[in-house]
Parts: sequence; C-alpha cells; structure tokens
Amino acid sequence: MYELIKWNNELETKIEEIDSQHKKLIQIINKLYTAMLEKKAKNILKDIIGELIDYTKYHFSTEENYMEKYNYPGYLNHKSQHGFFVRKVNEFQEKFKSGSATLSIEILNFLKDWLVNHIKVVDKELGKFLIEKGVKDL
Ligand code: FEO
Repeated sequence: MYELIKWNNELETKIEEIDSQHKKLIQIINKLYTAMLEKKAKNILKDIIGELIDYTKYHFSTEENYMEKYNYPGYLNHKSQHGFFVRKVNEFQEKFKSGSATLSIEILNFLKDWLVNHIKVVDKELGKFLIEKGVKDL
C-alpha cells in the first residue's frame, strides 16, 4: 500500500483509543490514495469514500463523548471543526457519485492536511486535557 500519510510520534495524543482510531483513519486515507494511484474502478473508490465517512463519524463521536463526559472547555470549537470536515467530505462524496467530481491528489491532500493539522493541534490539546483529568480510556 502507498502511504500518503505516515504515522509518527508527533501525532500521538497519548489517549490509546483515540490514537488507534487515528491510525485506522490514516489507513483508510492511504487505501484511498493507493486505489486512486492504481486507477481502481469508480465503485471501489466510492466504497472507500463511504468507509472513510462512516469511520470519521464514528471517530468524531468518540472524541465528542470524551469532551462531553469531562466538560471540556474547547468542546464547541472542536465539534465545529469536526462538522466542517464531515460537510466537506459529504459534499465531495455527492459530487463524486453524480460524476461532477473525480478523485484527485488535491482532494487527497486536503484530507491529509486537514487530518494531520487537526490531530497535531486540536486533538493533542484534548489529549493533554484528558490526561490531566486522569483519563486512560472511557
Ligand atoms: Fe481526531 Fe478531533 O478528530
């Protein structure tokens, strides 16, 4: 599999469940990248995009549950960033399905840049807060 994103220590939040979900998200994006490079059929790409959306929503709800449970002060800002990403990927999925957009390196780079920046800044800040609260896992 080709790697558009490589896992590294800078991406660690130190919350095991969140880190393992981030690894899975990276794996799905790398799978999509590989399928694009290998010029896989549209229905295969469509399935991977669907998997990315489903897993992203699942992952965001995990973090949002942590935030709610521990009254995280940055909750609204963090949640609105999640909402932005889901809207963007949903919009792309609709365009892809209708044939008005194709999967490109620009789209993949958008996914990569958003996710990496989000983890490095916003998720790590959440991780720090949860560790201060003594959280290991929910
Ligand atoms: Fe890991 Fe806030 O998404």
